[in-house]
Amino acid sequence: MDFRGAHILSVKQFEKADVDRLFQVADSMEPYTNRVRISKALDGAILGNMFFEPSTRTRVSFGCAFNLLGGQVRETTDVKTSSISKGESLYDTARVISGYSDVIVMRHPKVGSVDEFAKASRVPVINGGDGPNEHPSQALLDLYTIKKELKANNRSIDGMRIAMVGDLKHGRTVHSLSQLLMLYDKINFTLITPKELRMPEKIVSELKAAGHDVLETEDMEAGLNDNDTVYLTRIQEERFTSKLEADIYRGRFRLNKAIYTRNCQPNTVIMHPLPRDSREDANELDNDLNQHPNLAIFRQTDNGVLVRMALFALILDVADKVDDSARDVGWYTEGRFS
Ligand code: NCD
Repeated sequence: MDFRGAHILSVKQFEKADVDRLFQVADSMEPYTNRVRISKALDGAILGNMFFEPSTRTRVSFGCAFNLLGGQVRETTDVKTSSISKGESLYDTARVISGYSDVIVMRHPKVGSVDEFAKASRVPVINGGDGPNEHPSQALLDLYTIKKELKANNRSIDGMRIAMVGDLKHGRTVHSLSQLLMLYDKINFTLITPKELRMPEKIVSELKAAGHDVLETEDMEAGLNDNDTVYLTRIQEERFTSKLEADIYRGRFRLNKAIYTRNCQPNTVIMHPLPRDSREDANELDNDLNQHPNLAIFRQTDNGVLVRMALFALILDVADKVDDSARDVGWYTEGRFS
């Protein structure tokens, strides 16, 4: 695909070569995220960061990524304080904000809303999550992380075994990640969910039709066996009709040190898109794994900035100019990454 000026709405728009190109650019951003160099490649550009649903890391990391390339960020952070609460349509909001920005990141609770917004926008739009549907930039950073983690153990994505655990019905990150993994060969998926929260049938049949192995199970301990990666998810409470309904499933599948040690391979990578629900009745990923070397959750969040910088650099066509205006960081950074 041609990234220049493109909307990023779904992982389905990528071919393997696009992902490779993106990851190559992401790798080249390390001196900037590591605060060794400062770039002004996007000096004067404005990101419209439009979040109509709760977000911490997606919103902030997109903002940081844009800042690290020298651009400025303008944002809204919820529906209540935006004109959407006065009845403004997505069309009008898109026309207005795209007049103020060079690129927009948009998150909204409704499936398809970001596509609708993009159609009216005068500048490229990145889907920061449209309800339970898709979250393409998260899938890209997850895949980038998996690739790096497996490479460290001399393994590759083709033929990989991944267990996805939790609310796979409403979790947009697993919808996007599993579809992105379809670009690779012979992935083995073990989908561990309560039967009411299974991965949408359409995605499961697409995975099978593309030649991947899919096992759906409610037996977590058996399902954890023999995987390269285990990807935990939170029960997506906001997608249920009530908290009480979400409570039925909360805490059903948990990973802690004892369960991990008993069932996983010694090098199984532990991932989660975050936020993890650390309340006592949920706790799908226990704090007793915090010091475990295979816990990749904070490497995922760090990688998110690299991948999002790469997206901006390619969409706004400065990937080859990032170093031109760069200079060394002037402030104290010692020990920052320990
Ligand atoms: C996820 C999301 O918003 O879909 N969070 C994120 O963007 N990293 C996952 C979640 O909220 O559970």
